[in-house]
Amino acid sequence: MNRLNHVAIIMDGNGRWGLKHKKSRNAGHKAGLKTVEKIIKTTIKNKIKYLTLYAFSTENWKRPKKEINFLFNLLENFLTERIDDLHKQNIKLKIIGEKIFSSKLNKLLRLSEKKTLNNKKLQINLALNYGSKTELISAFKKLQKNKVKISEYNIKKYLLTNKIPDPDILIRTGNTQRLSNFLLWQLAYTEIFFEKKLWPDFNEKDFGKILNKYQKIRRNFGRV
Ligand code: IPE
Ligand code: IPE
Ligand code: MG
Repeated sequence: MNRLNHVAIIMDGNGRWGLKHKKSRNAGHKAGLKTVEKIIKTTIKNKIKYLTLYAFSTENWKRPKKEINFLFNLLENFLTERIDDLHKQNIKLKIIGEKIFSSKLNKLLRLSEKKTLNNKKLQINLALNYGSKTELISAFKKLQKNKVKISEYNIKKYLLTNKIPDPDILIRTGNTQRLSNFLLWQLAYTEIFFEKKLWPDFNEKDFGKILNKYQKIRRNFGRV
């Protein structure tokens, strides 16, 4: 059995789904949130300890203001309504990315993290305003400032994912095969699955198929 501690997901395809079904990209983001809920459940069922979700990249600020506002409103409403329930389910929420949103959302994110800090069942890392290059630059700057030796161990220590094991699986939905500045360091030995389906269409069964495929892979890590 391959160990399975951590699944990371690039949740792509909301906009296309929304345009196709409801003539609005934002409708796709709303539908995508339902998939998030389903996938959290499946992750817990499979006893996976870490789930990292790419929700907003440092590059996504280039989108129309209306779409950006819609996305953050969606998140704000979701957390306001669901954080107590997530807490009851023993889920820990961690934000990776600098919190530079509205003061209301920043506060809500901090509160949600604080509330769920000691939870143990599943850790959800929500990548928000996350970019791997920014993360690496900031880590190198800290190393330099503290005069710490450059080593794999020390670089890892200064990443936003410092206490989190590297992902075993990366899934990208939406029929696109690129990393879009996501976890470039952490994915060095991750098994990558590109999924044709758009994120709102992705379901428990698709997730299960990937987990099965993953178990059949021989992970060499350089060995023979
Ligand atoms: C991914 O879906 C979600 C976010 C970036 C927030 P997209 O919005 O990129 O959907 P497509 O790729 O345009 O269909
Ligand atoms: C990656 O999707 C970011 C998220 C899923 C949050 P994008 O749709 O922004 O990626 P590109 O720009 O097409 O590479
Ligand atoms: Mg996209």
